Amino acid sequence: MRKAIIAGNWKMNKTIAEAQSLAEGVKIDLAEETGVDVVLCPPFTALKTVSDVVSGTQIKLGAQNVHFEQSGAYTGEVSPAMLRDLYCHYVILGHSERRAMFGESSAIVNRKVKAALAGNLLPIVCVGETLEERDAGQVETVVETQVRESLADISAEEMKKIIIAYEPVWAIGTGRTASPEQAQEVHALIRDVLRKMYDDGVAQAVRIQYGGSMKPSNAAELLAQPDIDGGLIGGAALDPHSFVQIVAAARQD
Ligand code: PGA
Repeated sequence: MRKAIIAGNWKMNKTIAEAQSLAEGVKIDLAEETGVDVVLCPPFTALKTVSDVVSGTQIKLGAQNVHFEQSGAYTGEVSPAMLRDLYCHYVILGHSERRAMFGESSAIVNRKVKAALAGNLLPIVCVGETLEERDAGQVETVVETQVRESLADISAEEMKKIIIAYEPVWAIGTGRTASPEQAQEVHALIRDVLRKMYDDGVAQAVRIQYGGSMKPSNAAELLAQPDIDGGLIGGAALDPHSFVQIVAAARQD
């Protein structure tokens, strides 16, 4: 059985003081052990503060991006070792906002996945189609290509450490969630691609999160789908109570 994982992607929100109070809110509400992997991904500037708040709790820290080299002349970039230094365990890679606005191709995402693994970070690799691609009947092709290219040359052992997030672009920040059936269909497709790339053992081991307007009112029915193993939460993660309610919906006990 795959352990559920709920991650909050705070995007470019929260000053240090605001991040501290959001993280403290989550920590207070999550005082009891949940059996869920809970991850907070604040902006780089708030990582140290949030790291201090969640230290010694069940809450883990994640970053929203990392560079594909380990050090050197890369102005403005942050390396895997710098993130480990702040006790980051996870890193979100290939988010659709980075793919669309910052020119991140699946080939670049692939380099980042390898750098993250080499630096001891667990990648959360995002894939998902746009509305135009869905309307054109291209969901399978687009998602399969993103999965294959983003995960090229990753060994089976490494693959088991990676989390995939299916985030239909049309559902991100729009309030328009994929129906549980729509999401399940693509999650099953992704697991099938993993089966073809590796084997059934790997396909069954990898956790696949859903992301795109997940909130307390729709989390339970999405998480009840057989191939949905968690959520990557944007907007609803900016409110501690909403985020913790989604964690509660993911509890499997
Ligand atoms: P949303 O964002 O929950 O605000 O739709 C999800 C994401 O972009 O990871």
